[in-house]
Amino acid sequence: MNRHWRIQEDENRIAWLHFDLQQSPVNLLTPEALEELDSCIDALSRSAPAGVVLVSDKSSGFIAGADVKGFVGLKDPAAVERYVERAQSIFSALERLPLPTVAMIHGFCLGGGLELALACRYRVATEDPVTRIGFPEVRLGIFPGFGGTVRSIRLLGAQAAMGLMLSGRNIDGGAAARLKLVDLAVPRRQLMAAARRLIMAQPAVARPPWWSRTLTSAPLRPLLATLLQRQTAKRVQRKHYPAPFGLIDHWRRNGGRPQQMYRGEASAVARLVTGPVAQNLIRVFLLQERLRSLGREATFEPTHVHVIGGGIMGGDIAAWCALKGLRVTLQDQTPERLTGAIARAHGLFVRKLRLPHLIRAADDRLMPDCRGDGITRADLVVEAIYEDTTAKQALYRKIEPWLKPGALLATNTSSIPLERLTPGLLQPQRLVGLHFFNPVARMQLIEVVKGRETGETEFGRALAFAHRIDRLPLPVKSSPGFLVNRVLMPYLLEAIVLLGEGVAPEQVDQAAIQFGMPMGPVELADRVGLDICLSVAEKLAGELGCRVPESLRERVAQGELGRKSNRGYYRYAQGRPVKASVPLSETRSEQLATRMIDRLLAEAVACLRDGVVADSDLLDAGIIFGTGFAPFRGGPMRYIRENGQDGIRQRLRQLEPDPEGRFPAHTGREAAA
Ligand code: NAI
Repeated sequence: MNRHWRIQEDENRIAWLHFDLQQSPVNLLTPEALEELDSCIDALSRSAPAGVVLVSDKSSGFIAGADVKGFVGLKDPAAVERYVERAQSIFSALERLPLPTVAMIHGFCLGGGLELALACRYRVATEDPVTRIGFPEVRLGIFPGFGGTVRSIRLLGAQAAMGLMLSGRNIDGGAAARLKLVDLAVPRRQLMAAARRLIMAQPAVARPPWWSRTLTSAPLRPLLATLLQRQTAKRVQRKHYPAPFGLIDHWRRNGGRPQQMYRGEASAVARLVTGPVAQNLIRVFLLQERLRSLGREATFEPTHVHVIGGGIMGGDIAAWCALKGLRVTLQDQTPERLTGAIARAHGLFVRKLRLPHLIRAADDRLMPDCRGDGITRADLVVEAIYEDTTAKQALYRKIEPWLKPGALLATNTSSIPLERLTPGLLQPQRLVGLHFFNPVARMQLIEVVKGRETGETEFGRALAFAHRIDRLPLPVKSSPGFLVNRVLMPYLLEAIVLLGEGVAPEQVDQAAIQFGMPMGPVELADRVGLDICLSVAEKLAGELGCRVPESLRERVAQGELGRKSNRGYYRYAQGRPVKASVPLSETRSEQLATRMIDRLLAEAVACLRDGVVADSDLLDAGIIFGTGFAPFRGGPMRYIRENGQDGIRQRLRQLEPDPEGRFPAHTGREAAA
């Protein structure tokens, strides 16, 4: 008896093979689901219908991939290889069915889900923006293992297929049709009819053009492989992320010989998934899932958000909320101040939504509202005005009488503890922090801040709101700098101290990138704006007991504010830093990185001690998603555990004596304790 799959034959003798993984909101290819699929394929080969359509019964999408939880702690490559080969044989059985098969795709079709779709003769997808198709495996430190490398290359040619697998990006139905990854992209209401038509008409199966097929031939393959390797090495380093390089090696070695490709996939993926990098990336994926699930618990269905302050942050927060389907009113002191925000929002809608009717609808959802008429109707008011305690307090006093009963009041403050903002509020329990990061559309994390007076229900609603707009909520206690800015600051300050010691900015940045940070701290400071860095540093310095380097103050005083003023620690030309090529040995690079990263680690441990976040997993999640901390290292706490606690402890203890008081006095001692 099948629990997860169901076959239903219609009057045209088309068998609809429904997938509905029990006790799961999404369809995943678990070992049990795969075995059941095998028995269904067996039954279909005996009943010989006119055709088979694979269909998901989940509103969330087609199939999100393999069950990543099952990858945790895998240690035995031989056992993994056997499992992968079993899955490959099931997909091959589907492919061998002597009848037309169609994957009918709406919503997520990712990883193993796409590999299954590729084992069907045809694929049809909706044009809806929720449809996302791709191979995200490299993000987990592996590559497609259920025949995906064989079938995608056969269908698209090596260049397009490798591009898709190496980038890990996912595309919508229209783009998938243009690439020929799916045969048709149609409006949702026409999906079933399109699947039926493919079964009836049985058009010729798509193939890549001849010139693309020749790229897999023995003489050309090594050339393309070398090119791909060079391009990949520009983005990531092999020692940090072995999977994309492993994929290129696999194709270079086995391309053009399907049986060898299948075997090569199974053995390479088994080796990768049992290695430390994949295990850390899998951890990061599951941490992300945990943050996502935090917002699912409370029920809060806001429809209208009012944002006050249409500057960099408020404008972008308003745009993001409108993009995600909420009605948004945006208030500032004068209409002129909103012009930039509204134009930026339109640009975002064009980039993300593409279709004119969706762009128009999003434009309509975002309304400039300088009089603040939206306040009385909003389920949530987000304040994003200047970082000034008195101004924020005055604003709250003015607007509180107008809030709807039960409406939430949120502040985007990046450093002011909530307790300093509540005096004057009649209902302090309704104030929460929603600390978005810049740029809003790119940074997934929101620190959801709980003040001493914040109500439990209100806090749950704030988490739910973050989830509703498709961001990752991190619950943090109200305290100076919350989590992310607090751990970043000592790291940035150490970078500035290094500059003071005569180290070139290029070397400082290079060392951090070699460690695995997405961008060097000096360039990051320039990009954030040295005036903003200085103001956050000054606020935190007072709270944490450390001193801000004079050189930072001097630069700001001279109007060298970073990228926005074309000069900071770097000089900027057309918005890009002009960097000299300065040599840096591996040993020196490690020394520099250690000095900076140790500060971050020490402050992270202190945050855990202070209860800024509830546990070390949340701490790792916050620092990875908030600062980009080398994901392949699994987060600071994982890094401390994996790299010999004793060595790191000893180093952290040495951070302690700092006569100039440049760093938080407590961090070395606490972290080493
Ligand atoms: P901004 O200076 O770009 O924008 C502030 C806007 O608020 C201005 O347009 C101003 O006219 C408006 N405003 C001031 N008082 C007002 C009032 N009483 N009523 C209506 N509008 C008013 O500032 P930004 O950078 O957007 O920061 C806003 C908040 O977000 C601050 O609390 C800041 O700490 C926080 N934040 C900033 C980040 C950044 O990278 N810029 C990152 C995360 C948080």
